[in-house]
Amino acid sequence: MSNQPFAEIYHRQTKYHPATIGQGHQIDWNNPPEQFKEYPGARRIELRPYLPTNESEDWGAMQRLQDPDGPFSLPQLSKLLFATNGVTAMAVGGGQRMFYRAAPSAGALYPTDLYLAIRGHADLADGVYYYHVREHALIEVYPEGLAPEGNELFRRLAAACMEDPGVAGAQVALIATAVFWRSSWRYGERAYRRCLLDTGHVLGNFDIVAPKLDLCTFAVGGFVDSEIAELLATPEDKEGVLAVFPIYAIGDYSDVQPGPSARASSDVEPTPKDDAILSIHDAGAIRRETAAAATGAPVGSDDFLLNPKYTFASGTKLRPTETDVNDRIELAILRRRSTRVLSGEPMTFEELSDLLAFAYRADLKLPPEQQPRYFDTTLLETFVVVNNVDGLEPGVYYFAPSFMELLNIRRGSVKREIFHLSLGQELARDASVVVVHTGDLAAATKKYGSRAYRYLHLDAGHIGQRLNVGAIRLELGVSGIGGFFDDEVNALLNIPEQELCVYITCLGKPAQ
Ligand SMILES: Cc1cc2nc3c(=O)[nH]c(=O)nc-3n(C[C@H](O)[C@H](O)[C@H](O)COP(=O)(O)O)c2cc1C
Repeated sequence: MSNQPFAEIYHRQTKYHPATIGQGHQIDWNNPPEQFKEYPGARRIELRPYLPTNESEDWGAMQRLQDPDGPFSLPQLSKLLFATNGVTAMAVGGGQRMFYRAAPSAGALYPTDLYLAIRGHADLADGVYYYHVREHALIEVYPEGLAPEGNELFRRLAAACMEDPGVAGAQVALIATAVFWRSSWRYGERAYRRCLLDTGHVLGNFDIVAPKLDLCTFAVGGFVDSEIAELLATPEDKEGVLAVFPIYAIGDYSDVQPGPSARASSDVEPTPKDDAILSIHDAGAIRRETAAAATGAPVGSDDFLLNPKYTFASGTKLRPTETDVNDRIELAILRRRSTRVLSGEPMTFEELSDLLAFAYRADLKLPPEQQPRYFDTTLLETFVVVNNVDGLEPGVYYFAPSFMELLNIRRGSVKREIFHLSLGQELARDASVVVVHTGDLAAATKKYGSRAYRYLHLDAGHIGQRLNVGAIRLELGVSGIGGFFDDEVNALLNIPEQELCVYITCLGKPAQ
């Protein structure tokens, strides 16, 4: 076996280069992917009747009023799933209905699916449920009478998660998967990156909404992949399990002892496959035979880079205002859309400060049980490209969330470069600010094997969603960018080849 983790090979193989972009992958227009799974004959629990009928209602307060019997009532699950990944807009084009969701998705292809494992519920039988997004309904995955009994289900779920006590003690767990073909239909081999980023966005919503409904949650990134897939009855050659999140009533937070949020993959020789996506997913898997060696990061590893790569002698401190961005943020999720045209006008340094403070949860007003749950954000670094901000010189800045400071590493406008490296997308040229997330892939794989590739992209997508929702809350424009010339990003930021650009987010003033 080569000593190089497969994640590094996959990453190099899926870079975009100016000379070859557009060559290779052909879209099969006659064979578009289905965006939803169907379970003919399965029992279905409608969640629509429990949705608030108008956006101005306070979802949190409604939950408390309608939920005298405790957490996880159907009204609460309905709101949780809707605001995480529900259909928030519909459009009709070419005779087709398009369903737009609470979370953005590259190319609106929506590879992410959600499942709930449930036991001991007043209205739902023990078992595994698929969240059908278009129907806003829970579908029982197992035929009647065939679902494992609830305690057995959670025993198996916890065993698959290396006996994580947070999973073992939960009554409800959310499991996120990605159906690769939905995205690879359009994006070919590079789609795995977008599947992970998209799922990170969905998890970002989940993480924002849960505390609003008096729920708390923990990220579990270490699990024996095949055992969770078996519980969900999902085919491993089509759909990859990406994350498990046990959910608790917020009042029980102090009693819960979650395990590590991220663990290393087995990195045994991956089974040779023709398909690059199956190969990278498989390379990042944890297998039962070697699960005992799947070491994990200690809890609390969600602290952002405490040792920034640059010395902070002359950074510019952020200047957040009194605006409480977290206040009623859930309503911004419901009305969010990716901005299609930015105006090029400046945002203020205060707006940028409020947004970064919210997105990187330097929002210390939040109690610990409401803080975001990542896999391992110490793997990520953040660069802020300033095109046009009142109160800040154009140029490239390094951002260390733990200091809440921006350090200028390159002076002068780089608008032309950022426009070109984003495949000539005007969003990047007309943004006031472009946030670029990078990670040292060699260091990350040293810690977690090829599974690090998942954590890097899931966490970057998660932060991307906080930037999205925070921007909408502040009435700014925002869009993710998943297509970029990888090596040109490194050149712009002056970072070595082993550091990869994970994700780009454009922020600015929406055009009228
Ligand atoms: C990972 C990711 C990558 C994206 N990349 C691009 C992009 O390169 N260019 C673009 O215009 N929009 C991009 N988007 C935005 C999507 O096109 C948008 O989310 C989708 O059309 C659905 O619309 P909505 O976000 O308004 O619901 C991206 C979104 C995500 C989550």
